[in-house]
Amino acid sequence: MEPIGLDGAGKPGTGKRMCIVGASGKLGRYMVQHALDRGYEVVGVCRERSVSKLAGFEGRITVIPGATDDRAVIARAVSGCDAVLTVLVPWGMNHYASGTAQAVLDHAPPDARLVFSCGWHITRDGKDVYTWKFKAFAAVFGRLAKLVRVVDVDDQVEACRRIFASDARWTVVRGSDLEEGEGQGLPVWSRHVGDPVLASNMTRRVDYARFMVEAVENDALVQEAPAIVGRLTPSALAHAAGPA
Ligand SMILES: NC(=O)c1ccc[n+]([C@@H]2O[C@H](COP(=O)([O-])OP(=O)(O)OC[C@H]3O[C@@H](n4cnc5c(N)ncnc54)[C@H](OP(=O)(O)O)[C@@H]3O)[C@@H](O)[C@H]2O)c1
Repeated sequence: MEPIGLDGAGKPGTGKRMCIVGASGKLGRYMVQHALDRGYEVVGVCRERSVSKLAGFEGRITVIPGATDDRAVIARAVSGCDAVLTVLVPWGMNHYASGTAQAVLDHAPPDARLVFSCGWHITRDGKDVYTWKFKAFAAVFGRLAKLVRVVDVDDQVEACRRIFASDARWTVVRGSDLEEGEGQGLPVWSRHVGDPVLASNMTRRVDYARFMVEAVENDALVQEAPAIVGRLTPSALAHAAGPA
């Protein structure tokens, strides 16, 4: 399939190229907008059937249609990119998430900043502390979804294991529960779920996307797996106010 909208040159500004893998989803489209606002040239990858969801960006981005775990599609999309942002989703039973992550790890330029999305259920060092409610939901949802062969959460875990083992300049952004609504600013983050700052467990999706895009320029986040929460949530505000 040929790329669509080859005139996606972006605004003058960074002169940098950002690939967004999974650009047509809700998070992906917010990331495209943030990236354009910051002057990046944007290349988006999405399933062929979803290209129309990017119509609002026509003429401003380049779209490469295809499955995100298609290695040839990814090789072409990430070529010459300074940053690759990937929406990691565990759809189906064909190792979609790990295939997507592996293709990005293998084909992105060695110095590129790689930023991946996932949820709090991913743990890097096993030091995250989860509420019983979170654990119960994750266990029931994970088992049911696998049973009906719709979602394979274990494969998203495997995808992250490969990323964590890589020497690349990666960041894995672990999202809390998400909601729609106006942006409230850059989310705050912690290394570990269970940190009181994260207790509110809610982030606006548009702000999650902002965190993903701004992580590219934040070297402090290289080889980190920040767990994020909205900056105006009660737990984040309480943390900002300091000890009572
Ligand atoms: N939803 C939450 O509450 C939540 C919480 C924490 C973290 N996260 C993380 O946030 C990221 C975005 O998740 P989201 O829930 O907000 O969804 P989203 O942004 O709408 O993204 C869903 C993605 O999955 C793709 N997709 C949907 N069905 C598919 C299928 N059958 N086969 C292949 N790809 C398919 C979509 O592509 P098309 O456009 O082609 O359909 C889209 O790229 C994920 O990494 C997720 O782990 C989500």
